[in-house]
Amino acid sequence: MARAVDNRKVAIIGCGFVGSATAFALMQSGLFTEMVLVDVDRERAEGEALDIAHGMPFAGPMNIYAGDYDDVADAAIVIVTAGANQQPGETRLDLVHKNVRIFKSIVPEIARRDFPGILLVVSNPVDILTHVALKLSGLPENRVIGSGTVLDTARFKYILGEHLGVDPRNVHARIIGEHGDSEIAVWSTANVSGIPVNDFCELRGHFEHEEAMERIAEDVKNSAYEIIAKKKATYYGIAMSVKRICEAIVRDEKPILPVSNYQHGVHGLHDVVLSMPAVVGKDGIEYQVPAPLSEGELARLHESADALKKVMAELDL
Ligand code: NAD
Ligand code: LAC
Repeated sequence: MARAVDNRKVAIIGCGFVGSATAFALMQSGLFTEMVLVDVDRERAEGEALDIAHGMPFAGPMNIYAGDYDDVADAAIVIVTAGANQQPGETRLDLVHKNVRIFKSIVPEIARRDFPGILLVVSNPVDILTHVALKLSGLPENRVIGSGTVLDTARFKYILGEHLGVDPRNVHARIIGEHGDSEIAVWSTANVSGIPVNDFCELRGHFEHEEAMERIAEDVKNSAYEIIAKKKATYYGIAMSVKRICEAIVRDEKPILPVSNYQHGVHGLHDVVLSMPAVVGKDGIEYQVPAPLSEGELARLHESADALKKVMAELDL
C-alpha cells in the first residue's frame, strides 16, 4: 500500500545558510507541526534544530529535530538545499559536477523509501539538479519541482517597485528560463495594477525605457553575484521564496509561480527543466500556463533551454 503523506510535516536536507534560513522562515510560518533537519554534518543539524526551537515560545509549538532518511519518508515536502554554494566569481553552472555527486547520494535515499510527497530542489544549478532529481528518483514530473525563478521574480518586483515607488506586490512581472545567467525578464506583459509597465513609468516621470529595462534586468540577474561578493552567500530571499512555494502546496492555494519544472511542449520546449509559470497546489505542478511572450523573449527562452540541455547532455547519470 502506498505510504500516506503527513501534510503537516516538512524535511530539509542540507542545513547550511539556505537550509537553516528556510527552517527559520518555516518555523515562523505555522504551516507545519513537524520539521526534520538532515545534514551530513549531524551536529550542524542538531545545533540548527535547537537554535530554531528556542524561537518557538514566540511563534507556536512544533516538533523540530535532526533526523535521517527514515524520518523524511512521509513528509509532505522534502526540500533539498544540500551542496556547494558559489564562491565569488563562480556561476551556478560551475557547481554542477560537485552537486550532481551530492544528489546521487541523497535522491536515491528518498526515492527508495516510497516517498509520496513533493521533492523541492533549491541547490544550484537548480534547473539541472531538478532534472537530475527527476531522473534519479523516478517520481512523477508533477512532484519534482525546483525553486527556479521564484526568487529572481521577487528581485524583479522589488527593484521595479523601488524604481516606481510602489508596493512590489502590485508589480506583475516575472523572470523565466534558467535560474542563472540566461534568465529572461518578461517585459512584454509586465504591468502595475493592470497598467502596462512603460505607461506606469511615464506616470512616475521615467521616460528612458530601453535604458531602464536593460539596467533593471541586469541588476536582477546580478543580484546574487553582488550579495555573494559582499556576504559570501544568499539565503533570506530564497528562504521566503521556498516558504511561498510550501504555502502553495500545503494549503493547495494554486497560485501561478515561475517554478522550475519539466517542459512538455509549451512554447515548443521539450525535455528540459526550467522556470515557466505553473499552477502549484497539493499535487505540485498542476497546470503549465502558456503565458504569452514576445518574439524576442521566445527566442531567448529557447537559448536558455539550449544552454541547459547542453549541460544535461554532458552529465553521466
Ligand atoms: P552551505 O555550504 O552553507 O550549506 C550546504 C550544506 O549542505 C552544508 O551544511 C553541508 O554539510 C550540507 N551537505 C553537503 N553534502 C550533503 C549531503 N550529501 N547530504 C546532506 N547534507 C549535505 O551552502 P548554502 O549557502 O546553504 O547553499 C546551498 C545550496 O543552495 C547551494 O548549491 C547554493 O548555490 C544554493 N542556493 C540556491 C538558491 C536558489 O535560488 N535556488 C539560492 C541560494 C543558494
Ligand atoms: C541566488 C542563488 C545564489 O541567490 O542562486 O540567486
